[in-house]
Amino acid sequence: MTNEQIKALIADLSIEEKAGQLLQVAGNFYDKDSLTTGALDYFKITDKELELTGSILSISGAEKLKKIQDECMAKQPHHIPQVFMLDIINGYETIYPVPMAQGASFNPDMAKKCAAMAAIEGSAAGIHVTFSPMVDLVRDARWGRVMESTGEDSYLNGVLGAAMVEGYQGDDIKSKGKMGACVKHFAAYGGAEGGRDYDTVELSERTLREEYLPAYKACIDDGVKLVMTSFNTIKHVPAAGNKWLMKKVLRDEMGFDGMLISDYGAIVEMVNHNIAKDEVQAAELSINAGVDMDMMSLCYVHGLKKLLEEGKISQEMIDEAVFRVLSLKNELGLFDNPYKDASAEDEKKYILCDEHRKLAMEAAMDSFVLLENDDKMLPLSKDESVCFVGPFVDSKKVYGSWTFPSNDDSIVSIRQGIENIGAKNVSYAQGSQFLSNNMKLKNGEILTYDDEAKEKLLKEAVDAAKSSSKAVVCIGEHAQFTGEAASRTNITIPEEQMELLRAVSEVNENVVTLVVNGRPLELAEGKKLSKAVMVVWFPGTETGNAIANVIYGNNEPGGRVPMSFPYTVGQEPCYYNRLKSGRPNNGTLEQGYVMGYIDQIDKMLYPFGYGKTYTEFEYSTVEIEEKTGEEKPVLTLDKTLTASVVITNKGQREGTETVQMYVQDLFGSVCRPVKQLRGFEKVTLAPGESKKVSFVIKEEMLRFYNIDMEYTSEAGDFKVYIGPDSETDNFAEFVI
Ligand code: NOJ
Repeated sequence: MTNEQIKALIADLSIEEKAGQLLQVAGNFYDKDSLTTGALDYFKITDKELELTGSILSISGAEKLKKIQDECMAKQPHHIPQVFMLDIINGYETIYPVPMAQGASFNPDMAKKCAAMAAIEGSAAGIHVTFSPMVDLVRDARWGRVMESTGEDSYLNGVLGAAMVEGYQGDDIKSKGKMGACVKHFAAYGGAEGGRDYDTVELSERTLREEYLPAYKACIDDGVKLVMTSFNTIKHVPAAGNKWLMKKVLRDEMGFDGMLISDYGAIVEMVNHNIAKDEVQAAELSINAGVDMDMMSLCYVHGLKKLLEEGKISQEMIDEAVFRVLSLKNELGLFDNPYKDASAEDEKKYILCDEHRKLAMEAAMDSFVLLENDDKMLPLSKDESVCFVGPFVDSKKVYGSWTFPSNDDSIVSIRQGIENIGAKNVSYAQGSQFLSNNMKLKNGEILTYDDEAKEKLLKEAVDAAKSSSKAVVCIGEHAQFTGEAASRTNITIPEEQMELLRAVSEVNENVVTLVVNGRPLELAEGKKLSKAVMVVWFPGTETGNAIANVIYGNNEPGGRVPMSFPYTVGQEPCYYNRLKSGRPNNGTLEQGYVMGYIDQIDKMLYPFGYGKTYTEFEYSTVEIEEKTGEEKPVLTLDKTLTASVVITNKGQREGTETVQMYVQDLFGSVCRPVKQLRGFEKVTLAPGESKKVSFVIKEEMLRFYNIDMEYTSEAGDFKVYIGPDSETDNFAEFVI
């Protein structure tokens, strides 16, 4: 359809039909068995209102959606197709590592491929739009949703988010196997105070703009079709009704002209926020802010007609929102083919196909972070006696909380992976439960265990550990402890599992701890009790095969920490790129009256960017190649600089290093972060091989909001660091 035809269609719609087009309803109203991703009880929709709805979320399956599409279109006066949306976060049926793990990979090509393959499966199942990527900057591991983000650095998040958008959307969302992407949650949902989900976000405008907004902007610049509002307030106004944020910042400044959808119930929640008296006023705030679609609230359906009649809003405002919704449907080709790619045959062909599973394995291996490896504990040899203990040995719940495989049989457990690789001389024991008895999960389920069985489980594991040369302890977070509505006040591995680790380490000095997790956890004790520690996140479908390949040395663990691991939860929020205090500490507890705590050194256990490999790399000192004649090389608006290091593989086996480039502005009209990531490259080197790695430094990388809130760089002294993690001290100086 042309824009004129869309406008003509809009002119022919009744106000009820228009409001219907702006409503998104949960799939549960069409199929009682479909999953729901939020509450339903408050949502009292009439049959007539349901008939006019413009979009459905959280329901999938080719045949099911075709039928629903037919039924819905038949009921609509203008037979407008539905647009089906779903949270395809880290895969549809083939499950890739959770986004935090993809962040750890520092590998945009991989993230793009995972998104592309997820889109192929999802679109075969009838989905037109995914609610991904989530690029919320995360600095507080207590927040349950850090697992859905690629981490604490806005540059990394932007690079990976944009790669995912490209993977989902390709060049044309109408093409087969492509879908619309929706970047979320605009804005700064990850800044919830104390990590409490759905709580207030209190940020200075400078921090918002400099740290939180760039990753959304990277996705917008890359052509993302949708943006989702966040639940939180920005400058004390909920995002869903925040005109400044949506009209000025998102539309005018960032240039976003696609469809803006609220988060689930976020418009009506403005009543709870005490900013709207009722649904009608909430609708007024959101339509004024330019929010096009109301996900799971009836504010638009109940409010728009009334507001129009009272002259509080204009017909144009409503038509503009409807235009964006219909334009999206048009871009997806739904007016020509309302089923798009839905095909039972393609579902069979693509879902869990070999190619997708292979990618799931590669992505998982590339995301594991080796934190410790004393005495070269890893890789294991297939002939040594090893016991694998812990509740994750046989668990299939290793895909995070945002993917919903129809059958867990497709997941390869750790035990299955070890069996597949053909390791001899291995034994297995569960060792412990996931959680203490009677623990309530966020889905309401209460886990009850038999206390007598506990002793037996522990004894089996200890016996296995006594008779093995090495013990691999597979412990971590229950998947229900991560994701939405799963914030925690502590970030420990559950005590039941720590008891297992302690008991095993008493009888076996060669402990390798594998941590399954969706957030940075307190690992200081685990580190003491183990010689090797590797974080595997929630790896997805190929969990066991990926772990087996890495721990038996066929592949390397490729990940680096994308979100700092503190020693203790009391250090949260923690992140590397902070501002310098007027009273800096020297990293000990010896000084008085300096920034920090009296009971914890001001350091992270594992800082952003950190991770070991099975080999060792050496870095030369950073050199700036251009000799500009002055004492320090000079960067100008029209002339870049090139900073380089030579990296050498000093070990005995091939390995891949994630080389990271950070910049530091030494003085500014406002305080500047101690370092900021501005580039990275993964480099694979044979034993003994060296390679020069160079990064181009451009003036635009050094811009920030100065004292007058102008986005600019300031003349002065800078450092460029190149090293293996954010604590690197390998730098060269330049001026601008
Ligand atoms: C609420 C979540 O905040 C959002 O991320 C998700 O996309 C929607 N529900 C839809 O499931």
